[in-house]
Amino acid sequence: MQKYDVLIIGAGIAGLYAAMQLPASKKVLVVCKDIPWECNTFYAQGGMTTALNEADIPLHVEDTMAAGSYHNNKEAVEILSRTSLETTPDIISRGMEFDTDESGNLLYTKEAAHSVERIIHAGGDATGRYMHYFMMVQNKHQLQKNTLVYDLLIDNGRCFGVKATVNYEPTTIYADDVIIASGGIGSLYAYNTNSRTVSADIHGICVEKGIELADMEFMQFHPTVFVETPFARKLLLTEALRGEGAHVVDEEGRRFLFDYDERGELASRDIVARGIFNHKRKTGQKAYLDFSMFEEKWFEHRFPNITHTFARLGYKFPKDKIAISPAFHYSNGGIKCDTNGCIDGMEGLYVIGEAARTGVHGANRLASNSLLEGVVFAKRAVDHLLSKEHKAMKTPLFEKDYGNILHKENDKIYKQKLRQVMWDDIGIIRTRKGLHEAKNLIYDMKNKEIGRLLKLRLNTASAIVDAALARKESLGSHYIESL
Ligand code: SIN
Repeated sequence: MQKYDVLIIGAGIAGLYAAMQLPASKKVLVVCKDIPWECNTFYAQGGMTTALNEADIPLHVEDTMAAGSYHNNKEAVEILSRTSLETTPDIISRGMEFDTDESGNLLYTKEAAHSVERIIHAGGDATGRYMHYFMMVQNKHQLQKNTLVYDLLIDNGRCFGVKATVNYEPTTIYADDVIIASGGIGSLYAYNTNSRTVSADIHGICVEKGIELADMEFMQFHPTVFVETPFARKLLLTEALRGEGAHVVDEEGRRFLFDYDERGELASRDIVARGIFNHKRKTGQKAYLDFSMFEEKWFEHRFPNITHTFARLGYKFPKDKIAISPAFHYSNGGIKCDTNGCIDGMEGLYVIGEAARTGVHGANRLASNSLLEGVVFAKRAVDHLLSKEHKAMKTPLFEKDYGNILHKENDKIYKQKLRQVMWDDIGIIRTRKGLHEAKNLIYDMKNKEIGRLLKLRLNTASAIVDAALARKESLGSHYIESL
């Protein structure tokens, strides 16, 4: 039997920063489903928001609330912004190198719906990769890959650990405290920018255990994604491109986003995504990102990741335009918790990062608040965990099971069907008719001969469609076209 003080599920920014805060005296295990860099953090491009100083906090809070349609938990937003004044210097003092000018001053960029330049970045447009690498090196606790969690050990309002397969072998891992940092739900959607490991398993377990998910109707679609690739993960074109001045145009070269919002390319993500989706649907034309205003050397220096990724596909910047479409990007909703990551009525279980729903993002997340969220709420959860009194307790014995029926023969076909229905009917623009059809289809699939992992995905999909049906009016990233 494996027994730890703290078990962290997920090795993205939230999981790793939580591990970095835990002292060496604690026996800590970080687990991840695949290799550690198969996580959304690794693919994050644009940057991490940080309040510039005390005076910027009210502005950052207001930008976050406005992007979230004021559906946010204001206390969580204030914590996010204020704590960045601690966490960003902490990360830098430990050795993380964000991009600077020649004098060593941090470079700040702007992204949509920010009123000022307050986003720091690394490697130009590879911020997530740089931060992930940095945190992997900083983490001194044990990290175990190929560990797929398929159940939480819950008894009488307390979590005692998890059931998982480790290198395909079913096992039980006990822990005094479990921190869920497993990310969002990307694999539920046909077009998404997420790592293939992000598939809502833990959300599905929570549904099964009666742990509440909240704000699940608010799924975020990134406006500028290159979807013409056969791979499941579609290629993000960071918001920072528009922040630096790239234009969204149609086949005639017209900047049509001003038809939808006076801020054009710099309106909030939900508005830009809907504008592009609508325009393509209405006109039958493609939409493009146009970089022709940039100087070649500057572009390559500022966006090396995009330059080299697309060079492999035959594109040359700044002369070539890229065809874009919105794609699923981020779950604003998640496992309901307070601002310390605690789950009501559940002891020994925390949730942080994209998996969590603190209410910080409201109905639509402000660009580049997610890496910051991972860091800030990881710190708070660990502070809470370390400060609480630990009571000695008797661990009930949980049997090993399920490990051999995670997958069944037809799961692949149903998964594909689910991904398509999520995109078609619970996507950027929804109708009540489509939502009802999706609900029925999900219900039918649940009654088929399916494996446990698909069952968990379907639990999460049900939570999304039910939340979307419950919210009759449009708000933020939940948009209902007709009743
Ligand atoms: C991007 O670089 O556009 C993504 C950053 C984010 O998800 O906020």
